Amino acid sequence: MNTPIYDFVSKYINDDVTRLHMPGHKGKGPLGFEKMDITEVFGADALYQASGIIKESEDNAAQLFDSYKTFYSTEGSSHLIRTMLFLASRGKADGYILAARNAHSAFASACALIDLEVRWIECEDSYLSCNLTPEKLEKALTCVDKAPFCVYVTSPDYLGNMLDIRGLSQVCHKHGTLLLVDNAHGAYLRFLEKSKHPINLGADMCCDSAHKTLSALTGGAYLHISKGASQLAAGAKDALALFASTSPSYLTLCSLDKLNAYLATDYRKELSDFISLVRREKNELCRLGYTLVGDEELKITIRAKEYGYLGTSLADVLARNNIYCEFCDKDFLVLMVTPQNTKEDLDLLVNVLRDISKKEPIMECLPKVSLPERKMSIRQAIFSQSEEISIDEGLGRVLGCLSISCPPAVSVILAGEVLDKSTIEACKYNGITTVMVVK
Ligand SMILES: Cc1ncc(COP(=O)(O)O)c(C=O)c1O
Repeated sequence: MNTPIYDFVSKYINDDVTRLHMPGHKGKGPLGFEKMDITEVFGADALYQASGIIKESEDNAAQLFDSYKTFYSTEGSSHLIRTMLFLASRGKADGYILAARNAHSAFASACALIDLEVRWIECEDSYLSCNLTPEKLEKALTCVDKAPFCVYVTSPDYLGNMLDIRGLSQVCHKHGTLLLVDNAHGAYLRFLEKSKHPINLGADMCCDSAHKTLSALTGGAYLHISKGASQLAAGAKDALALFASTSPSYLTLCSLDKLNAYLATDYRKELSDFISLVRREKNELCRLGYTLVGDEELKITIRAKEYGYLGTSLADVLARNNIYCEFCDKDFLVLMVTPQNTKEDLDLLVNVLRDISKKEPIMECLPKVSLPERKMSIRQAIFSQSEEISIDEGLGRVLGCLSISCPPAVSVILAGEVLDKSTIEACKYNGITTVMVVK
C-alpha cells in the first residue's frame, strides 16, 4: 500500500524549500522534530477538501477497513463524535437520539453544541458499562412513540466490554434507524483473524481513535461510513470542518498514512501472535486469583477489590515498579496493551502483580445510581449562569457544567440533570467535593 502523505512530506524536507508559510518553526526550530510538521502548502492537499494525497491515503484506509468511506481527523474521536451526530441529526430538528448512558463526555459536548435531544438507555452494570443486548434494544424501540434518528452506543467500553454490534444493527435497521458506534477503543478489531470491527458488523458510522490501540500519533482518528449508509458520506467533509481546527497536524496525518502500509502488511500477524501472549498472561493472572473483566483482547482490566485492594492501590504498586496504567479508580485497574509492548513488558506486569499477596475482598461497592431527572437540555444548562457549591449542598440542584469529571470522562450526571441522593453519593465515592450548579 502506498503512503502518499508521508512521501510528499519526506520529499518536501529533502527539497530543502524556503518555508514562507506556517508553522513558525520553519522546520528547523529548537525542538529537533519540526521538519515533518508542515501545513497545507501547494501539493499537500487540504484535509477537509481533500482531492490529492490526503484523499488517496483516506481511500487506502477505506480499503483496509472495508468501509464505504473513511475520513481522517487529527483531533481524535472527540471531533468525530461531534461529526457523526451532526451528520445523523441533519434535517431531523424534532428528532432525538437513543443513547446508552455510558457515553464519553465528548458525546455530551456534541449534544450541547448541536442542541440534540437525548433519551437514555439506562445501564444496569456500572456507569462505565452498559449491557445493551439486541433484545433490550428491540424492547426499547418498540415502546417509543417514534423511532430515534439514531441509536448511539460505546463498544468497546473503557473496561473492555463489547456489545453485539451485529445484533444491535439488525434491530436498528428493522426500526428504520441508524446505529452509530463510539469505537474509540477498537480500531484494531478490524485486524483480528475474524474482524470484530463495528463497520464490518453492520454499524452505519463509527469513529476509531487510531492513536489509542494502533500506532498513530495522538489525535489520529478515523470516521468510517458503511456501504449501507453511503448517503451520509456526501456531507461528511463539511461536517468535519464545522467542528475542526483549520490547522490539521501533518505529523499526525503522516502517522495515519504510514500506518496504512503497516496495517496492510505485518500488523495482522503481529497482532495475532501478541494476542496469544496476552491470553497466556491473563490466564496466569486468573490463576493467581485476580478477577479480570471484559472481552477485549488488548485490555487487561482487573476488578481490584475482589483481590483485597483498591484499583488505585494496585496502580501505586505498579507505578513504583515503573509500570503506568491507563486508568484506575477504587474498583478497577485498566491496562492497555498493543503489539508494540514486548513479552518482557507483560512478564514484568505479571511478576509485579504476583508479588502482591491476595487479601480479603473489600466489600464497599459503587453506590447504585439511578438515571437522574432531567430539568433542562444539556445546552440550556451549560449556557445558564452557574455557581460552585459543596456537593453536600447539591440535593435538588441542576448540574450546570457538562459533566462531573471523574475519569475516564463517563459521568454519573450530565448538565441539566438534577442531583439526587444517589448521584451525590456516587460523586462523593469518586472523591468529588464541589459541583457547578445552575444559579
Ligand atoms: C470511549 C471513548 N470515546 C471517545 C473518546 C475520545 O477520544 P479521543 O481522545 O480520540 O478524542 C475517549 C477517550 O478516552 C473514550 O475513552
